[in-house]
Amino acid sequence: MSMNWGMANRLARIIKPEDGRAVMLAVDHGYFLGPTSGLEEPRKTIEPLIPYADSIMLTRGVLRTSVDARADKPVVLRVSGGTSILKELSNEDITVSIDDCIRLNVSAMALSIFVGSEFEKETLVSLAKLVDEGEKYGIPVLAVTAVGKDMARDVRYLGLSCRIAAELGAHIVKTYYCDDFEQLIESCPIPVIIAGGKKTPEMEALELAHNAVTHGAVGVDMGRNIFQSDSPVGMIKAVRAIVHENVSVKEAYKIYESAKGAKPKRAAG
Ligand code: R5P
Repeated sequence: MSMNWGMANRLARIIKPEDGRAVMLAVDHGYFLGPTSGLEEPRKTIEPLIPYADSIMLTRGVLRTSVDARADKPVVLRVSGGTSILKELSNEDITVSIDDCIRLNVSAMALSIFVGSEFEKETLVSLAKLVDEGEKYGIPVLAVTAVGKDMARDVRYLGLSCRIAAELGAHIVKTYYCDDFEQLIESCPIPVIIAGGKKTPEMEALELAHNAVTHGAVGVDMGRNIFQSDSPVGMIKAVRAIVHENVSVKEAYKIYESAKGAKPKRAAG
């Protein structure tokens, strides 16, 4: 992809050029979920995790109130919203001006697309408009493939959403891990990052992260499986080791366990 210097520089702050990988901490959930479990007091959740994230993904409200401006951590700003869990989720619009994105010194802007949902067209046109704005100032756009209620999270559907995001000009796309993930990667010409999804046991979340990077994702943008864990710092350290150091799931789990302060289980016999 040919791109201007500012765009390339911002992208390099998110996807580390040393290994082409990214650990993004997702703490934007409140934009439609309100006080999400584990994120009731954003500053308390975010502060201890920041050192282990390459970038943080959040809304401007949480950024301004809950993150130290001197934190020197690349920001992926959630710029779509206008909905809540009480209504049709796909009815999103762009909620932050490009001027404020520049003022906040963001490294990328994130917007959800809802392929197959009621407001599919509006969200796709918003993506295209956001890309136009971003291109003017060298700010990359991360498209988030949001999954509607009745949509299967399979390679056919997610592959469709990711490809459309790329075709409309997104610079990175965030999606879910699925079976035959390599097919999705092959048919998507931009870097793919995976979301963690609902909280699962720590071992499963680490397997997900491992599978995703092994099969071609540049990294993870994980939220609930980190901040809802009994050891958020342990989990982000473990995820980081998988993404940047290619450690096995077993090794990563040990990192999580030792951060939690739990004694490793004794071998049987
Ligand atoms: C969801 O709409 C948000 O964009 C989240 O940032 C995303 O789903 C990643 O968080 P989690 O790992 O909790 O799914």
